[in-house]
Amino acid sequence: MAAHDLASDFTDLPRSQRLKAATRATHDRLDRRIMAGDIFADRGRFARFVRVQYRFHRDIDALYAHPALDALLPDLAGRRRLDQIASDLRDLGQALPTPAQPKAEAGLPLAQALGWLYVAEGSNLGGSVLYKLAAKLGLDREFGARHLAAHPDGVARHWREFTAALDSAALDAAQERDLVAGAEAAFRSVRGHVEAEFA
Ligand code: HEM
Repeated sequence: MAAHDLASDFTDLPRSQRLKAATRATHDRLDRRIMAGDIFADRGRFARFVRVQYRFHRDIDALYAHPALDALLPDLAGRRRLDQIASDLRDLGQALPTPAQPKAEAGLPLAQALGWLYVAEGSNLGGSVLYKLAAKLGLDREFGARHLAAHPDGVARHWREFTAALDSAALDAAQERDLVAGAEAAFRSVRGHVEAEFA
């Protein structure tokens, strides 16, 4: 989907809700594509999904040390999940995907960086659904599904803390567009990893 002009779309909604609406179709296509990959058929299929997560979180790893994001968000460093994902891959007997050039650099403008992070943080919401399904494969917060386990504060509360910060950031019209473009770029990057891992 092309980036929307958030200044003119859904103007009565908080920014986080507008961003959700602007990227809903992209998310739904991704969700369907991943579930069509039958990721709960066995641990090997599930591992493909975890490899997608690893590649995506490696793409965005620099953002967890992004000074402007750190000033805006509560517990930015604590939101990083790359290490848990790497542990999940080891549990599943997987080698780490080969190194690649990260896609979201530390110098990314704040609005774009926020868009990328929105996708990573939002994926925790769907992640709580996936966590329950992973139990059928004998995986949990101790083994194989660590990165999908709920934050100790609770998934909903942790998400609300993120969206409160997202909603309160002062962004001009160009930055609102950058925010959506960042989120769309993040979804595209995840989609590319899905196509590579599920080919
Ligand atoms: C790595 C892949 C995925 C990414 C990047 C991703 C991204 C996101 C994002 C950004 C949101 C937040 C939407 C909002 O603003 O409220 C979200 C929510 C959600 N996702 Fe995904 N998602 C992924 C995979 C999946 C899969 C495979 C499912 C299938 C069950 C799924 C189901 C959901 C559900 C049910 C919600 C809403 C949860 C709620 O509102 O409580 N997602 N996801």
